[in-house]
Amino acid sequence: APTRLIDYRPPDWLVPQVKLRFELEAQRTLVHATLHVVRNGAHDRPLRLDGQALELLHLAVDGAAHDHRLADEKLTIALGADAAVVETSVAIAPAANTRLMGLYASGGLLCTQCEAEGFRRITFFPDRPDVLSLYSVRLEADAAAYPVLLANGNPGATGALPDGRHFAEWDDPIPKPCYLFAAVAGDLSALSDRFTTMSGREVALNIWTAAADVARCGHAMAALKASMAWDERVYGREYDLDVFNIVAVADFNFGAMENKGLNIFNSKYVLADAETATDWDFDSIAGIVAHEYFHNWSGNRVTCRDWFQLSLKEGFTVFRDQQFSADQGSAAVKRIEDVRGLRGMQFAEDAGPLAHPVRPDSYVEISNFYTATIYNKGAEIIRMMHRLLGEARFRAASDSYFAANDGRAATVEDFLAAMAGQGLDADTFARWYRTRGTPVVAAALSHDAEAATATLTLRQSNPRAPDAAPLPIPLATALFGRQTGARLGEERLILLDQAETRVTFEAVREPPVLSINRGFSAPVLVQAAQSADDLAFLAAHDDDGFGRYEAMQQLLLNALIQSAGGGGTAGQEAVIAAVRATLRQADADPAFVAETVLLPAEALIGDRMGEVDPEAIHAAREALRRTLSGALREEWWALFHGLADTDFALTPLAKGRRRLRGVALGMLMAGDDHEATAAAFLMFADAATMTDRMAALGALANSRAVEREEALRLFEARHGADANAMDKWYAVQAASSRPDTLAAVRRLQQRADYSPANPNRLRSLVLTFANNQLRFHAADGGGYDFLTETLLAVDAINPQSAARLAAPLGRWKRFDAGRAGLMRRALERIRATPGLSKDVQEMVSNSLEG
Ligand code: ARG
Ligand code: ZN
Repeated sequence: APTRLIDYRPPDWLVPQVKLRFELEAQRTLVHATLHVVRNGAHDRPLRLDGQALELLHLAVDGAAHDHRLADEKLTIALGADAAVVETSVAIAPAANTRLMGLYASGGLLCTQCEAEGFRRITFFPDRPDVLSLYSVRLEADAAAYPVLLANGNPGATGALPDGRHFAEWDDPIPKPCYLFAAVAGDLSALSDRFTTMSGREVALNIWTAAADVARCGHAMAALKASMAWDERVYGREYDLDVFNIVAVADFNFGAMENKGLNIFNSKYVLADAETATDWDFDSIAGIVAHEYFHNWSGNRVTCRDWFQLSLKEGFTVFRDQQFSADQGSAAVKRIEDVRGLRGMQFAEDAGPLAHPVRPDSYVEISNFYTATIYNKGAEIIRMMHRLLGEARFRAASDSYFAANDGRAATVEDFLAAMAGQGLDADTFARWYRTRGTPVVAAALSHDAEAATATLTLRQSNPRAPDAAPLPIPLATALFGRQTGARLGEERLILLDQAETRVTFEAVREPPVLSINRGFSAPVLVQAAQSADDLAFLAAHDDDGFGRYEAMQQLLLNALIQSAGGGGTAGQEAVIAAVRATLRQADADPAFVAETVLLPAEALIGDRMGEVDPEAIHAAREALRRTLSGALREEWWALFHGLADTDFALTPLAKGRRRLRGVALGMLMAGDDHEATAAAFLMFADAATMTDRMAALGALANSRAVEREEALRLFEARHGADANAMDKWYAVQAASSRPDTLAAVRRLQQRADYSPANPNRLRSLVLTFANNQLRFHAADGGGYDFLTETLLAVDAINPQSAARLAAPLGRWKRFDAGRAGLMRRALERIRATPGLSKDVQEMVSNSLEG
């Protein structure tokens, strides 16, 4: 049965104090728990503890044996008094834990992942975020195999034990929910540093990894220190423990986890140097280090009452990490990247069968709700509040939110109440949290030349929630004069909070061009029916960088949709001219130019068409690439040569130059040109950075030329021992547009270094392929068969990983009858498989019925 928001009840029993003692061993670990439980309110309900895959060895209440019942993953204990000390001992099997939830083995390490409901796989406990406890933890393990023993909080006593074992004690002085519990044991080395907080507290910082990788932790450490300083400066948030530890592990279900004082990271988001990491990796590492660090306040000090409030911590923390990253480099480019991600992932999710509100009403498996909607749309909602209140009032509201809720398990209402304290209309804003679907805003501008006024009519609708009350949509808007190219008056922030609004602009003495949703001020789809001339005008004249990007992308998208839909290529001269004009800004802002002239992804084109025709979309995109490639040949070559750098700098300018050079190469490679192929191979062979090497390999991966195989071979020879680098090698082949891609993917699946148990490897190969719109959606259904087989095999190992593979099949309604039928059949075949996890069951049922 699903869990529902309206069924929330406070916990029957609280657990103010927890003592844990671990006798760690990979095969069989013993966990001894002492819980001080206290009745919460007047009732006579028993204590009910969650437990999954636990072998109960011993149970005592107040030191004596006690009646209990163990059924359906619940341990029920009737207690007479209002307080008791409950002791349990359980055995667990970390080495056999392939779900990577609870305590598991990764390489030679033992580590934990508890969010959302993994703590119940470690010990019996009320596994819900509104039970906050003080933890003291003692880890015992073989000293040779596990010389380093880490847990949350501050370090305590350490010492030797008989039989070559040793122990370490950890005390966390801050109450926390059990999903923030963490422990790690292993042969780890640290890159260490220090940070002095704004009140003068000295914090020891360590990033733990295998000894050989310590040299690759410098970027993450710099990001951590920058994050700590930034959160003090921008949000007034200070760190609260004596140590901050980060551990990198190779097998991890997602990016990273904000466990109190002991963040655990997917090694992909820690380890970096020029040899193995792309600029994208460097930026993601900084963003994720910041994200997890920022959770110390938005998530840990103020946590969530229940999992329906997930976006309370995730949306806010994503917004905070986006602000941080914008401050580190180009804010405009960061915004473009964030919006591209939002449209690619979240808009697609919100338009399909898995659409759900940012605060869902119900779920079967909470792991399925760590979605782009909770994270990224959640962040957009916070961003709108920030925009409406302005920097100072938003900060004041944030301060009062943290002050009022420190040490509490809070709700979205608590956050909105703090914003309301600064004047936000919280009641109407709450609608954003309960309404699924991307709002569509139709905008029509008319000009009255005689009166010198312009009237903007705005109408909102939501196809996925037609009966929902109108949302408050802040639309940053400006008009530009078609003749003068100048902005007419100030930018206005229009709040569209009715189904329809009309806004008048005065002193409009020439035909105006509309620039709306500037900076992407609201996460909506704008339909403005702008002509190619208007879009080209805005691409050249808008004084909002995002607006110029947006106009150019819309121009490209319109051309692609027209040609993929059989409408031919009329009007492409305007596109060529606009791209040419944009390329002239390459010296000043190469990153912006790269983003702006990059053709929209095939999946995005599909999302905007009535029916997705993968072959027609691919053909249209290739044709436009060839057109732009040919028409601007000299420009692309000039960029390709002029942007070649031999040194390695991580400045925004250096990164932008590499990015634009990669885009130029991609254009030159359209049509499998010989000269370009040779240049790509040379770029690959001479690359001073992984960014250049991957840009070249990515371009070659679609090619039929012999250089492709040679480059793949060289890459493997160079990086074969580095799993994170090899993931890129897998992904680049799975993303290839070559007709033999599925066969290649199946071959890659047979390699000795392929393992579906490693989430990074699985994602690199299988999820990348499932997002390869052209080849995954082959009309014969071969891609669907492949995904179905893989998903079913993975479900037996790791349900969370398997559930993620279901989403690509959920797009079935968007395709022609033939493909839709095959996709449905694949989903039905999965659903009919006995022993399916509830993770996959929920995803598949929603995909079929939603
Ligand atoms: N809280 C972590 C983060 O965003 C992610 C945890 C994901 N958990 C899950 N069950 N998918 O930083
Ligand atoms: Zn998070």
